[in-house]
Amino acid sequence: MTEIRETDAGEQERYLVDFDTDTLPYEFYDVVIVGSGIAGVYTALSTPRQAKILIITKDTIDINNSVLAQGGIAVSLDQNDSPHLHFQDTIYAGAGLCDKETVKVLVNEAAENIATLCLYGVNFDRDAERRLSLTREGAHSMNRIIHTGDATGKEVCDTLVRAVSDLDNVTIRERTFAIDLITQDNVCKGVLTCNEQGGDLKAYYAPIVVCASGGYGRLYASTTNPEVATGDGAALSFRAGAELMDLEFVQFHPTVLFHPDNQSFLISEAVRGEGALLRNLKGELFMENYHPMKELAPRDVVSRAIFQEMEKTGAQHVYLDITHKDRAYLEQRFPTIFKTCLSYGIDMSRDYIPVAPSQHYSMGGIKTDEWGKTRIQGFYAVGEAACNGIHGANRLASNSLLEGLVFGRRIGRQIAEHLDDLKKASGIKPSLRYHNTWIDKDVDAPKLIRQLQELMNHNVGIVRSKESLESAMERILQIRRELNHVRATDTTMMELKNMLFLSSLLVKAALMRQESRGAHYRSDYPQTDDQNWLNNIVFQGGNKDA
Ligand code: SIN
Repeated sequence: MTEIRETDAGEQERYLVDFDTDTLPYEFYDVVIVGSGIAGVYTALSTPRQAKILIITKDTIDINNSVLAQGGIAVSLDQNDSPHLHFQDTIYAGAGLCDKETVKVLVNEAAENIATLCLYGVNFDRDAERRLSLTREGAHSMNRIIHTGDATGKEVCDTLVRAVSDLDNVTIRERTFAIDLITQDNVCKGVLTCNEQGGDLKAYYAPIVVCASGGYGRLYASTTNPEVATGDGAALSFRAGAELMDLEFVQFHPTVLFHPDNQSFLISEAVRGEGALLRNLKGELFMENYHPMKELAPRDVVSRAIFQEMEKTGAQHVYLDITHKDRAYLEQRFPTIFKTCLSYGIDMSRDYIPVAPSQHYSMGGIKTDEWGKTRIQGFYAVGEAACNGIHGANRLASNSLLEGLVFGRRIGRQIAEHLDDLKKASGIKPSLRYHNTWIDKDVDAPKLIRQLQELMNHNVGIVRSKESLESAMERILQIRRELNHVRATDTTMMELKNMLFLSSLLVKAALMRQESRGAHYRSDYPQTDDQNWLNNIVFQGGNKDA
């Protein structure tokens, strides 16, 4: 029995709840996947059928960021395109911080994974010759985004979920919250879970755990991310001893609907790819003042340009203008966006669409190598939860669904190579007990979450400074101190602890990076510093389980 006590834990607890494996209900699997977006489900499909797999998901299987992805998937299929050009565009958008070897993997393995999606029956849009239709998005030098109208993520996820649901070796448990990774001597043993309310504590023991739980967009009040994106995967990984990297790089999508009743609906970059223009409140075009690629400049550049125009005109939004395209075309090419705008009284064939930037994607996450491995044996991360260096300081549009595919399949290949070892390590219950001296206290967790989100929006948004970051840090640490060792009795409280902890690391990284690079813009350090800059900022988790 390994007894774990909080000795040098400081404010950071190793586990969010007490448990004893002697009495804890449990099940055995070979592989547990946390998260049901494209990365999680495709990893399951890419893993040999001999492996007994469990997918757990916090809400229902269809609630995740991948499902909401509108634009598409980047892949160099045009006869004038190549993986090398895709590589160059990814590196350019990433503002000097991408891991070149991992980007090569991404672009070189793109086409074969898209072919697999087609075999599964994903219904991508095609041209008259039945070739996959290719559109353009920001910072791409070629048309290379395959899509299904403006609901690509939904089409891909629906198809993959149907395929995985047919597999006898895969079990899916919805409304299951991953509290913590169970480890012993830096070896992954499984996942500690509870139900939606925080009850029914249970362990799923497995020698392989894959974290595909998505990003941490909900640290911000205004985001395109669903409610589940509270960064639990990153927080639990860190508690278990994994490393977190590039947390300061938060992507703000330039064009999110700005309407009193909806400020989280994405207006896909593909709309600009098909010719939409940005106008300020006076109706003036402005992007040519900011970048030669104008509306199709890298996403961080467009978001900052909009931010500046909003500041100049004192407005809360700018406009997206695609009124030069006819209605029938827009209805067919962007059915979801067209219908949604119309439901708010905006006919995009006649009216400008009010838009503003909003948090959209977390470039940072759990540090992995090019095979999805973390520094904890048996623990992998993939998709938005992971940070393998392909996005650098600013993700190139439509590289994220692709990332889930390429690296999900690589994890499946790793598992296939070590299947015999995996089977030998399965079915073993670790002997562990965790007990903390908790304080019982009434906490209004939803209110504190809202306060944190507003704080992150205002102080750690598109433009940051030492002053705004230090003031955010002060407040975050104050709340963290108030909650130190306070018992988490429900999942909202667990989310709050995860969010507070991640925010403090994010702000710390943003303070450490005294330059502007990609999505990280400091008004007090507006230049990119190529002389004395910090490469990737990595925080090492505190593993106290041994
Ligand atoms: C979009 O459709 O604009 C989003 C695409 C992405 O985030 O890659």
